[in-house]
Amino acid sequence: MKCRVCRGEAVIDVRRHNANFCVEHFVEQCERQVAKAIDAFSMLAPGERVLVAVSGGKDSLALWDLLIRLGHRAEGLYLGLGIGEYSDVSGDYARRFATERGLVLHEVDLRRDYGYDVPTAAAATRRVPCSACGLSKRHLFDEVARQGDFDVVATGHNLDDEAAVLFGNVLRWQTEYLARQLPVLPAGNGFPRKVKPLVRLSERETAAYCVVTGIDYQVDECPMAEGNRHLGYKDVLNDLEARSPGSKAAFLASFFSRGHEFFRDAAGGEQETLHRCAECGSPTTGEVCAFCALRARVVGDTPVTIGRKD
Ligand code: AMP
Ligand code: FES
Ligand code: ZN
Ligand code: ZN
Repeated sequence: MKCRVCRGEAVIDVRRHNANFCVEHFVEQCERQVAKAIDAFSMLAPGERVLVAVSGGKDSLALWDLLIRLGHRAEGLYLGLGIGEYSDVSGDYARRFATERGLVLHEVDLRRDYGYDVPTAAAATRRVPCSACGLSKRHLFDEVARQGDFDVVATGHNLDDEAAVLFGNVLRWQTEYLARQLPVLPAGNGFPRKVKPLVRLSERETAAYCVVTGIDYQVDECPMAEGNRHLGYKDVLNDLEARSPGSKAAFLASFFSRGHEFFRDAAGGEQETLHRCAECGSPTTGEVCAFCALRARVVGDTPVTIGRKD
């Protein structure tokens, strides 16, 4: 297997590009894909301050590394969600990455700073854990960005993640979601811009990127992810990809270039007047925002612990 660029020994094949790469040219290829995504969707302007949401997993650590390589001013944010040992270990990976490279990592711990955690909120609301988890994450990304005067929040959603979400939205023709499913969400109404610069890289590529560049990451999946629909969609798309390499990327890329425009007007909801949450001051349509409402409901509940076998 020879590298497409230098004919040296290749370490990875990327079937959808019909190409093999050596370490040096694979890293270069990853940089190019991220730069292309940033450029195509005007995600970041030179000199802007980026807050990278890092979970300690391969995608967000690869993203942080790539943004720094590309010369962006990027600081990290780790949220301690209280999901047992999984969260403890994830935080360690994020901290170690930052310390070794002299980067700034901001930290918020749900239990310490807000008096609840994801397992306790999931039990109290009797909904899938990802719902309290996603709500808390979105709120805190925005809040930390606002407080720290960041221009933009970047997350590590990759090609597989976005293709799976698109598949789910198409399966049910959720036109409102399709209207918003671009890898950049403009700033507005007091919310920072959100970007997903890894949309052109697959999960396999971000994992390989970490391995060849020496980034240690949390390999385990979230223990509360069971029942998450997107995992099923990923399996379906992976089967399709195995039969026909490139179909996953084509599905997503052609939605962006040709499909999305037909759903643009279905976004809705934007006309509602926003005011400040009575508790935290973040923009909301209600008296208090969804985050403060969740918190009020679960704070003081007996903590639910998970992932401990003793
Ligand atoms: P997930 O929702 O777990 O698929 O994660 C999607 C993205 O959200 C990751 O790539 C990160 O950018 C961000 N993220 C997930 N968990 C955390 C966390 N605990 N702290 C900070 N960012 C996170
Ligand atoms: Fe949903 Fe962890 S709570 S993936
Ligand atoms: Zn090469
Ligand atoms: Zn609030």
